[in-house]
Amino acid sequence: MVSAGLSLALAFASARIPVAAASASSAGASAQASSADAATIARGAYLAKAADCAGCHTAAPRVTQPGGSPALSAPFAGGLGMASPFGTIYSSNITPDPHAGIGRYSYDDFARALRQGIARGGKRLYPAMPYPSFSKITDDDMHALYSYFMYGVQPVSTPAPETRLPFPFNQRWALMFWDWTFAPSGAFKPETGRDAQWNRGAYLVQSLGHCGACHTPRGPAYEERGYSESRDAYLTGGTNDHWFAPNLTADPGSGLGRSSVEDIAAFLRHGHGNGLVTFGSMVQVVEDSTQYLNDDDLTAIAVYLKSLPPRASSGHFNAQSRAALQTAQSLKTGDVERPGAGIYATYCARCHQMDGAGVPQKFPRLAGNPAVLSASTTSLVRLLVEGGGSPHTEQGPESRKMPSFAGKLTDAEMAYVLTFIRNTWGNAAEPVTTRDVSDVRVALHK
Ligand code: HEC
Ligand code: HEC
Ligand code: HEC
Repeated sequence: MVSAGLSLALAFASARIPVAAASASSAGASAQASSADAATIARGAYLAKAADCAGCHTAAPRVTQPGGSPALSAPFAGGLGMASPFGTIYSSNITPDPHAGIGRYSYDDFARALRQGIARGGKRLYPAMPYPSFSKITDDDMHALYSYFMYGVQPVSTPAPETRLPFPFNQRWALMFWDWTFAPSGAFKPETGRDAQWNRGAYLVQSLGHCGACHTPRGPAYEERGYSESRDAYLTGGTNDHWFAPNLTADPGSGLGRSSVEDIAAFLRHGHGNGLVTFGSMVQVVEDSTQYLNDDDLTAIAVYLKSLPPRASSGHFNAQSRAALQTAQSLKTGDVERPGAGIYATYCARCHQMDGAGVPQKFPRLAGNPAVLSASTTSLVRLLVEGGGSPHTEQGPESRKMPSFAGKLTDAEMAYVLTFIRNTWGNAAEPVTTRDVSDVRVALHK
């Protein structure tokens, strides 16, 4: 949705609330009341980044890179359509406009919407809005967020389109039962046996970051199967909108077992870490949210993730295995007969290299890449069909494209090449079938 005065709105927002200043917000504690407010607003802006409010509440196309092309959609004006198993849900306008947005929300209305999923006036929200995670936001942070949305965001008077799901999903009152059964309540409680850094990471991941909304598998009622590490399924991998968000526990195959705290923090900051490159729906998480977090917060998140014991293991990597050494040799001599090897050499090796090592800061390595070894191959198929692009970040490497192979490879060829990359250079994971590929293509209509 295009609205007039948009670039003005952006200029307003970025002039008033420099995100970089947010981390220094507590510095001016002795300042006047008015600048203390400015500090609270700036802290709210930082927290809104950590929670990625803009990612869901801004319609496409939007500016992902500050200083990039002009804004086409107003930040926070809503109208982004989100696919759910029940139909498309549109995000609300959360600018402070009194009619189209949340300008008439009191602090209590705001906290109730974020924590309990009940909008002003009593309308139950669909859990596409991650209120089960936001229920853990502290009062302090909630106040800062409210200040930001009331005083730091430019009002936009264009209403977001209405969500119209088919019966019975249009009966919002019935979400009450869902909320009673599935949604946790109560603010985050620090673990006394853990230090402040671990608790900061746990808080960011479980509340504002709502990482589990994508990385935790969902149950039959679309509920996340756990909201903290006390549940076995928490962050073991989930599929949303045909992207599989991988296992973030310490599983050495498809999880974070072989990534260090520094690797994970770098991945979240630049979309590049330890030879892995962000793709799929994680690209926007890095662009809109994690790239803006300060080093302490990124490290805390990584420390927390690294503390999760290995669960839901799948896939293996052993660079020294006999099979690995054999393929390395035969790839060198060009003497490979495995189906998929020829396709790889023709279409993929120029970027990912014959040895699967990729090119640092440009193209991801496929050898030992947890995303390549994942239990679900949905993301791999989707990436081949649609292509992709690494994130645009302020400080990270330049964005690079991965081409689409939709017109170049048949479903069977895609299955061959994916099976090949999952079982070469020491990788070992279940093969991909032609059926796996065609199922994803049918679901994507591509
Ligand atoms: C993962 C996507 C997502 C994220 C992240 C998200 N929201 Fe939402 N939000 C939604 C959707 C979708 C709706 C509309 C749900 C509905 O219509 O039932 C919504 C609704 C709301 C509403 C209700 C407004 C109304 O009156 O209709 C408020 C307030 C809100 N969000 C605030 C926020 C804030 C503040 C943040 C960041 C702290 C945030 N949201 C982050 C998806 C998201
Ligand atoms: C909108 C869905 C979504 C959200 C929200 C999300 N992720 Fe992801 N994430 C993905 C997808 C999809 C991938 C796989 C693609 C890739 O590796 O970049 C991924 C990959 C990752 C990886 C790399 C894993 C690996 O082994 O390669 C890390 C680390 C990660 N996410 C951390 C996080 C953290 C921390 C948060 C919360 C702050 C988060 N993610 C929130 C979708 C999401
Ligand atoms: C022109 C260079 C290029 C070619 C050719 C190419 N890729 Fe990629 N590939 C990339 C880039 C760039 C990314 C990161 C994409 C993103 O961030 O969305 C990527 C990502 C991937 C990933 C996800 C791993 C990760 O950590 O991001 C897989 C798997 C992959 N490519 C497989 C293939 C296969 C299989 C082929 C051949 C059929 C291929 N690629 C051809 C550039 C290329």
